Amino acid sequence: MRFKNKSRKPTTLRCNAGRRCSFSVLVWSLVGCLLLLNLYSFISQKDARRGGTHFHINQHPHIRELEEVEEENIQLPPPRKRSPRAAKRKPKRPTTLIEEFLDESSQLRNVFFPGQRTAIDPRKSSENDTYYYYPGRMWLDTEGNPIQAHGGGILYDQRTKMYYWYGEYKDGPTYHAHKKGAARVDVIGVGCYSSKDLWMWKNEGIVLAAEENDETHDLYKLNILERPKVIYNEKTGKYVMWMHIDDTNYTKASAGVATSDFPTGPFDYLYSKRPHGYDSRDMTVFKDEDGIAYLVYSSEDNSELHIGPLNEEYIDVTQAMRRVLVGQHREAPALFKHGGTYYMITSGCTGWAPNEARAHAAESILGPWETIGNPCIGGNKVFRDTTFFGQSTFVLPLPELPGSFIFMADRWNPADLRDSRYVWLPLRVAGPVDHPLEYNFGFPLWSRVSVYWHKRWRLPYRWQGKK
Ligand SMILES: *[C@@H]1O[C@H](CO)[C@@H](O)[C@H](O)[C@H]1NC(C)=O
Ligand SMILES: *[C@@H]1O[C@H](CO)[C@@H](O)[C@H](O)[C@H]1NC(C)=O
Repeated sequence: MRFKNKSRKPTTLRCNAGRRCSFSVLVWSLVGCLLLLNLYSFISQKDARRGGTHFHINQHPHIRELEEVEEENIQLPPPRKRSPRAAKRKPKRPTTLIEEFLDESSQLRNVFFPGQRTAIDPRKSSENDTYYYYPGRMWLDTEGNPIQAHGGGILYDQRTKMYYWYGEYKDGPTYHAHKKGAARVDVIGVGCYSSKDLWMWKNEGIVLAAEENDETHDLYKLNILERPKVIYNEKTGKYVMWMHIDDTNYTKASAGVATSDFPTGPFDYLYSKRPHGYDSRDMTVFKDEDGIAYLVYSSEDNSELHIGPLNEEYIDVTQAMRRVLVGQHREAPALFKHGGTYYMITSGCTGWAPNEARAHAAESILGPWETIGNPCIGGNKVFRDTTFFGQSTFVLPLPELPGSFIFMADRWNPADLRDSRYVWLPLRVAGPVDHPLEYNFGFPLWSRVSVYWHKRWRLPYRWQGKK
């Protein structure tokens, strides 16, 4: 592909005016070739720095397995009689897969939210099922209860050599606070689960609990607590949790902070604020290799993202802040890094309904950020246009497989939010992007970010819990 580009360029300098200009054509061709060769070697070096070209990696059988996508062929059900209740709420029969997905009385319900019988259950897994992820199925912890860690993130703790999965514990009834309010569950707290293999999860309890009585408290149960993320601060030895804090109507739009001496809590809630004085809703934190951590949040009514470094203790923002993806209306940011380049996956803003994911890339975390397209591969068109009926929440690097990550998404179930599902899929950073920019002469400045659809998959066997 690169070679083709390289040889094509000089031919575009062809002179049609006959021999008179052949000398200048020769000179300009040579100059062009040299320039392109230079650019080519610069790009190759960059690629090498990023951990080799996708060519070599593709040949690795483990990677091939991760990239072998499956297709989905879900047929819309034939017209049917609807219950009066459903008919009243939405008079017309759903005509698209997305409408079926959102219709709680849909005949396809079981396709998107399979029942208990097919749950991933580490207590009674056979040789055939051990370590396999089934995106969208119920996922039980080591006690047999559905994992409650929605909108979550994962921390790998060097001290305990364990993975900790934090997320919204939503095991309560779903209701609407008022007519126009979004479906909600009262705040219960932040759930924490531990694992050595990223598959079998032990419930470590609620590590930051809701406030039952004090209506003025940020964590009052009628408020909102979403997208908790935890990072470890080497200087203070504290585990620091950041989260989206809001009121029922999402008008407070703040970021909250809590800290703990242990990954399993309990976390002490410190405070919330509007970072840099701006509204802040969906958010994440990212700790860079140099120990500097950043807060990333949707702002200006979700029309743009803001990124800014935290202070040394990670318990506050600093004055520095950049607006990125301005006017692009993105939320649910999940940020990761590969070979010195920063990548991010975001969703659109359509409430609980799924929409198309986008990948973004940047040389500096503070931007500029370039949008490089929809990362989803496989399934079918509707699957790819809806992030596999999910919404991004976190991207977890697999340390022994450079360029490989787990993409974590939530498949929200607005009819019963506690029964929202997890969509975990392999993510790879490799290969050229779909639509190279004009000004880079057809050479990819970024690698493609790809999330591969699988009904069933597992991490490469060699890696499995054998660290
Ligand atoms: C495992 O899978 C094989 C082939 O699909 C099947 O024959 C076998 O019965 C399965 N074993 C268990 C314990 O489910
Ligand atoms: C939320 O909005 C509704 C409808 O506008 C209003 O009745 C209610 O008082 C608001 N609640 C809060 C906590 O602001």
